[in-house]
Amino acid sequence: MGDIRANRRLFFREFRRSFHTTGAILPSGPALGRALTRFIRERTGPHRILEVGPGTGAVTQYIVDAMGPSDGLDLVEINGSFVDHLRDRFEREADFAARAAQVRVLKQNIVDWQTDGTYDRIVSGLPLNNFSVDDVDQILAAIGRLAHRGTIFSFFEYMAVRTTRSLVSGRRDRERLWGIGQSIDRFLAGREIRRDSVWPNLPPAWVHHVRFETRGRGEPGAGRT
Ligand SMILES: C[S@@+](CC[C@H](N)C(=O)[O-])C[C@H]1O[C@@H](n2cnc3c(N)ncnc32)[C@H](O)[C@@H]1O
Repeated sequence: MGDIRANRRLFFREFRRSFHTTGAILPSGPALGRALTRFIRERTGPHRILEVGPGTGAVTQYIVDAMGPSDGLDLVEINGSFVDHLRDRFEREADFAARAAQVRVLKQNIVDWQTDGTYDRIVSGLPLNNFSVDDVDQILAAIGRLAHRGTIFSFFEYMAVRTTRSLVSGRRDRERLWGIGQSIDRFLAGREIRRDSVWPNLPPAWVHHVRFETRGRGEPGAGRT
């Protein structure tokens, strides 16, 4: 499982330095990691996998454990300190190193990430509720562009985070949070295939699993059934 204390120290440092993009005090716990990777374990045949916002690799660990010899994994991370840390883990830790040849660690904003082809499974740890409505729409559109028919996209939100934050926010922030809720609801409508509640996480979280029925058309809500 790597050096948990070192991972937490780095995560907390980046939380203080880059709160906007890091969005949490601690890396995701094991129950959340398992829930996010459910559809990576439940599959057959080689898959192309994307993890967006891997941070210190708390969820990556579960992806790496579930990978077969013909799978490929791209990790798209905006924060250079996390990128360095992940590259180090793929060199030094036995379970990560065993898959290193199948993995690319990319320092990228997901909105700008372009690659040939699409992914079969996409997992995201992005703190959507920290962003502007426009950013959230661009991120969901980028995910749509990287998906094909049958791609399963799994992402989480802390439970009641918008309601709780709205109680202590000013009008503009309340409007922003309301707009994000609308964007996410539109994105989920008709294509959320499963929702897991993860109570043993700090804070507890919902994991949304979405199945794309058509290629995303580059806008949230595209590909709804
Ligand atoms: C809440 S942390 C989750 C980290 C890890 N997946 C976990 O669950 O512990 C969010 C991560 O998303 C990254 N991130 C934020 N915005 C991003 C973007 N636009 N593109 C790629 N990564 C981003 C942050 O740097 C951070 O590593």
